[in-house]
Amino acid sequence: MTNNLLEKAKSWTRSVLLKFARKLKTENDKGPVVRNARNLFSREIKIPIVVSLTFTVIAICCMFVIGLGVSYKTMLATAIFVAGVVFFIVRTQSVEKAILKDNDAVVLICLLFIIAVLTFQISKEYISPLASPVSVFTLIATMLLSLRIGIMYAVSLSLFVAFLNDMRFDVFLVMLCSSVAVMTNVQNIRRRADFVNVSFKTIAAAAAVITVFYFFDKYDISQFIRNLFYGILNGAFAIILLPVFIPLFEKLFSRTTNIKLIELSDFNNLLLKRLMLEAPGTYHHSIMTADIAEQAANVIDADSLLARVGAYYHDIGKLIKPQYFIENQVSNHNPHDELSPTMSSLILVSHVKEGVALSKKYNIDNEIINIIEQHHGTTSIHAFYHRALEQSPETDIENFRYPGPKPTTKVSAIVMIADSSEAACRSIEEPTVVKIKDMVEKIINNKFIDEQFSNCPITLKDLKAIRDSVISTLIGIYHARIEYKDKKE
Ligand SMILES: [Fe+2]
Ligand SMILES: [Fe+2]
Repeated sequence: MTNNLLEKAKSWTRSVLLKFARKLKTENDKGPVVRNARNLFSREIKIPIVVSLTFTVIAICCMFVIGLGVSYKTMLATAIFVAGVVFFIVRTQSVEKAILKDNDAVVLICLLFIIAVLTFQISKEYISPLASPVSVFTLIATMLLSLRIGIMYAVSLSLFVAFLNDMRFDVFLVMLCSSVAVMTNVQNIRRRADFVNVSFKTIAAAAAVITVFYFFDKYDISQFIRNLFYGILNGAFAIILLPVFIPLFEKLFSRTTNIKLIELSDFNNLLLKRLMLEAPGTYHHSIMTADIAEQAANVIDADSLLARVGAYYHDIGKLIKPQYFIENQVSNHNPHDELSPTMSSLILVSHVKEGVALSKKYNIDNEIINIIEQHHGTTSIHAFYHRALEQSPETDIENFRYPGPKPTTKVSAIVMIADSSEAACRSIEEPTVVKIKDMVEKIINNKFIDEQFSNCPITLKDLKAIRDSVISTLIGIYHARIEYKDKKE
């Protein structure tokens, strides 16, 4: 009787303490993004959206006054421009909620616009309006923000340059076509050397439009040659400006580009090197998970590079206590045998929090940190929960859950599925195609029933495609073992 009461009191105290710890964690999360307090560039820039927008409107007005003088034209151009920007922001708010809620992103949108119009003014005064590097700023906006914001930049900046130059239609078309040309295949820009391709695309688009205008007798031969030269100069700006602006804005505004992801996937990175040496089992599991996640992301048109790199880092927190995770246990000794189920589950759960802390310490990007934080969602550790149930039938499953949050993006959901599927298939003693299929289906169904995908925009169609992709990648990985066993039989 006394023992029973004592056990109940223990369980109640444990659950109260856990709830309190989780509350503390969520309250801390409301603070600004500070990846490394000692690094100035890692702090979030806290400028209110109203201040950024007002400053941009004043800058646009000043540019028109400088370019067109104080006249009704200036007033009209400014009014049209401000109306266009307001209209776009209102329209964008419904589809780009995440970006417009991020102060860093809004400051970047405004700052980029101001730098762009300043550059155009210089180009108009000293070179030619045709040399205005609209495509460069469009590409920066697309890579650092989103394709929609890139399109907004392409249209509004092309209009802006045309406005500054007596509404010249040739200038507008050259700017717009070169911007659209560089926006195609942005996903393929993964190395700094790819900026050369951007330059060629700008030159090709500009040359094509200028040639069309020449054929329609808008230019004489000398104007045609001169304008072609300015088109080439415009393309050359891409090689000069992109390698300077992209890394600078990436660092200043905590944005993640494909170039940064490729750098993070380099196995010479200190964190990945440590994982390889200190937790080889987890390292191997992460590489397998990355293969599965990348293929699945490709199938549903999600960001496959982010899925791969996110999977490399998803279990980085296991570096703190690697021997407590089954994949790193080389001998028969299992340290969990000497621990209570609650203590074991607390150690396992802590690898998520440790992963986030380590990534912040090593200045890993926020998009990767989100994947680390969400890769277990709020799932429970069944093995230790069942062991605890055997000891005390009143054990609460909530005490054996990961703290979350649940996946908020398709990529996080893919990494979650790939992670569980890889770990589960590794434990199958004699893998067969049927066993792998059943296992993956069971994992996805259980996570769906447990509402792990309730915060992410993934559809049932996506889940079906991910399931098929994960099964086929796993069959590919275990192909040799399956075939060998079949022959033996
Ligand atoms: Fe994990
Ligand atoms: Fe994992």
